[in-house]
Amino acid sequence: MKVLVADKFEKSGIDGLTGIGCEVMYRPELSDQALAEAIESNGVQALVVRSTKVTAAMLSSSLRMIVRAGAGVNTIDVKAATAKGVVVANCPGKNSIAVAELVFGLILALDRRIPDNVADLRAGKWNKKEYAKARGLFGCPIGLLGFGSIGREIAKRAAAFGMPVVAWDKIFGAEDRGLTAAEARMFGLEIAVQQVPITLAPSAEEVAARVQILSIHLPFAPDTKGLVNAAVLGQLGPGSYLINTSRGEIVDQDALRAAIRDRHLRVGLDVFAAEPSAATGEFTDPIVQEAGVYGTHHIVASTDQAQEAIALETVRIIKQFRETGVAPNAVNA
Ligand code: 3PG
Repeated sequence: MKVLVADKFEKSGIDGLTGIGCEVMYRPELSDQALAEAIESNGVQALVVRSTKVTAAMLSSSLRMIVRAGAGVNTIDVKAATAKGVVVANCPGKNSIAVAELVFGLILALDRRIPDNVADLRAGKWNKKEYAKARGLFGCPIGLLGFGSIGREIAKRAAAFGMPVVAWDKIFGAEDRGLTAAEARMFGLEIAVQQVPITLAPSAEEVAARVQILSIHLPFAPDTKGLVNAAVLGQLGPGSYLINTSRGEIVDQDALRAAIRDRHLRVGLDVFAAEPSAATGEFTDPIVQEAGVYGTHHIVASTDQAQEAIALETVRIIKQFRETGVAPNAVNA
C-alpha cells in the first residue's frame, strides 16, 4: 500500500508502516495544490495528515483512505470523501492526556499570570506587588463542555487540585445530577469522585453559571459552531477563566471580545478560527493582543507521548484496513 504522510509524524510510525509492508512517502511540507499533485502522481492509496487541509481536489482515483493522526476531522472534506468511497479514520482518545496537561498549564498560567511575570522579568522589572495577587485554584469549580475522554482526563486532574467538576455533554441530554458510581467506574473516575463532586448540568449555559473556570472539549461540527455564545459567556462571573483547546469556531469571537472587555474574562486559547494550516506563518488575530489572553500555537496534542500513541494507532488503523478492508475509528463508515 502506498502511504503519503503529509504532516509531522513520529519516526516510530514511519517505521511501523514500513514494517507492515507499506511504501511510505514522508512529505510533511506538502499542502494545497502540491499535495493534490503528489497524491495523484504517486498513486497514493492512504493519506496520513494532522491539521493539513484535505480538500475534494485531493481525492484522487487511487486514494482509499485518509487517516487523521489526531482527533479533529474538521480540516478534512469528509462529505466529499464519503461520496467518493474514501474511508476517513481518526485516532480518538490518544492525545487526551496531552490536552488535559495543556489545559492545566493554561489555567495555572492565568491564575498566576506566569507569562506576564516572565515578560516583566525579561524587561528588567521586578513587580512582586502586582503578581502576588492570585486567587488559587483549590475549591474553585471547573466546567467542562464535552465529557469524552479529554473531559474525563481533566476531571481526574481537577480532583487532584481539589476543584469540583460540572460537565455537560449531549450524551447525557439535559440531565442535572451527580455522576453515578457505575458511570464513575466506567469513566475511570472512581478516585476522583471520592475527592470532589462531579456533576452533570443540563446545558452549556447552566455549566457556565455554576463555575469560575470553563474549558471546552467538543468537536467542531454544525451543532457546536458558535455554541459558546454571548448567552453562555454571560453566565460566567466577572474575572472568570475560559480555556479553549478544541476549535476556535466553537466560540463566538465577538461575544468573547466583549466578555474580555466588559467583564474582564481571562482567556487561554490554543486554537483560532483563522489559524494557519501550515506549521509556520504569519498570524495576526487581534485577540492574542488582548490583556488577559494567553495564546499558544495549537500545540495541545504536541507532546512526544501523545504523538507516539497516535503513530501507533495510525499503523494499527492502516494495518487492519489492509487486512480486512474495515478501518477502525472510521468516521464515515
Ligand atoms: C486534534 O484534533 O487532534 C488536536 O487538535 C491536535 O491537532 P494537531 O494534530 O493538528 O496538532
